[in-house]
Amino acid sequence: MALLMETKLILRKVKDLRCFTAKRNRVKEKWAATRPKYPPTRLALQHMDAVYGAQLGSLWPSVRVALLCERKYGALVNTHSHHDVISELQHHGCADFITSTALQESVQVEGESQSDLRTTSDVSPGLNANIKCFVFPQGDISRFKPARPDANGLLGYYLMDAASVLPCLALDVREGHTVLDLCAAPGGKALAFMQTHGLGFVCLNDSSVSRTMRLRRVLHSYIPKALLSDHRLRISSFDGTMWGQIERGTFDRVLVDVPCTTDRHSVTEEDNNIFSKSRVGERRRLPQLQTELLLAGLEAVCPGGEVLYSTCTLSQQQNQAVVEQAEQLALERHGIQIQVVSLKPLTRNFTNTFHFAPELSVGELVLPHLAANFGPIYMCKLKRLT
Ligand SMILES: C[S@@+](CC[C@H](N)C(=O)[O-])C[C@H]1O[C@@H](n2cnc3c(N)ncnc32)[C@H](O)[C@@H]1O
Repeated sequence: MALLMETKLILRKVKDLRCFTAKRNRVKEKWAATRPKYPPTRLALQHMDAVYGAQLGSLWPSVRVALLCERKYGALVNTHSHHDVISELQHHGCADFITSTALQESVQVEGESQSDLRTTSDVSPGLNANIKCFVFPQGDISRFKPARPDANGLLGYYLMDAASVLPCLALDVREGHTVLDLCAAPGGKALAFMQTHGLGFVCLNDSSVSRTMRLRRVLHSYIPKALLSDHRLRISSFDGTMWGQIERGTFDRVLVDVPCTTDRHSVTEEDNNIFSKSRVGERRRLPQLQTELLLAGLEAVCPGGEVLYSTCTLSQQQNQAVVEQAEQLALERHGIQIQVVSLKPLTRNFTNTFHFAPELSVGELVLPHLAANFGPIYMCKLKRLT
C-alpha cells in the first residue's frame, strides 16, 4: 500500500514537472524519415573496427578507446608575443617536451669524445627551431586556460594537438629558407614553423576561401603586423594539386598536410563528418587527392629540398600507400627522384611523450593512447634528389 502511494506521488511530481517545462523548451524527436539510421560517427567506428582492427591487430582496442575519449592538447608558445607565458605554464605543472629533449641531446653531445663531436646542425632535425610546446604530464588530463592577448593584441600560446607539432619539427625549417605550406588552414602548423625567425619567404595556401579567411584571422592574433604585411609572406587560395603549373623547383621546404578522414573527429562529431552518406564519394577519392597534392609538393620543392607529408588518420591507404604511389609517379611523370628520410633520429627523442606505431614501411605514426591521448598523426619526410 505504502509503495503504491509512493509511486503515485512520484508520477504526480513528474506530471507537474512536465507542466512547468515551457512547450518551446520540450525536445521534439526528429522525424524518423530525416534521421539517418546509422549516424556518421557509428559508420566511422564500424569502418575503423574492420580496417584498423586488421591493420593494428592487438593494438587496436587500446587505440580505439583513446580515440573515443577527450584528446590532450599542447600549448604552442608564441615567441612573437610579449607575455611571459612560460613561467605561467610551468607554474601550472606543464613542461616543454621539445626543449627538455634538445637539452638532453646537447648534454650528450658535450659528453662525446673529440672525434665524435657533432655540430649543432647535427642535433636531431627540428630541435634547433624556436618551437616550444608545453604539455601536462602523462596521465594528467587538465585543460589549458584560454590564452590572453599582450599589449599588441598577440596571444601567448596556440592550443593544438601536441603531436601536430612533430611534422613541423620534422620539416626542419631554418633561417633563410623559402617555405610552402600547401594546405595551410587554419594555420596551427604554419604558426609552429613561423617561430623560426628570419625565414626567406613563406607561402601559405589553402584551396578553401573560407578556411583561408580563418587562417588570416589566426595569423592576425599571433604574428606581428609588420611581418604580416612583409612581402616575404604570401597567402593564397589555389587548388594545391595545380601548383606545378604555378611554380616548380622553388622551395627549400614544403609542408603537405592533406585533407583526410580526420579519425578522431569522425568517431566523435556528427557535424561535417566525412563518413556521412552524402560524402561517400569524397571519402573514397581522398587517397587520389592526397597523392596529387603530394606530387604537387614534390614538384614545388627544389632539388636537395625536403617535403613533409602528414595526415591525422591511422589509415595505411591514406598514409604509406600515398607516399609509395607518389614516389613512383614523381619519377614516371616528372623524372623526379626522391629518397625517404628516416624520422627515427627525431621520434626516438619523444618516446616519453608520444606512443609511436611499431615499424612502418615508410614514415612514423603517433598512436592515441589513454595515458598520452595525442594523435593520430602520420608523417613522412621526402628529400628531392633530382
Ligand atoms: C588537415 S587540414 C590542414 C591543417 C593545417 N595544416 C593546420 O595545421 O592548421 C587540410 C586542409 O587542406 C585543404 N585542402 C583541401 N583540398 C585542397 C586542395 N586541393 N588544395 C589545397 N588545399 C586543400 C582544406 O581546405 C584543409 O584546410
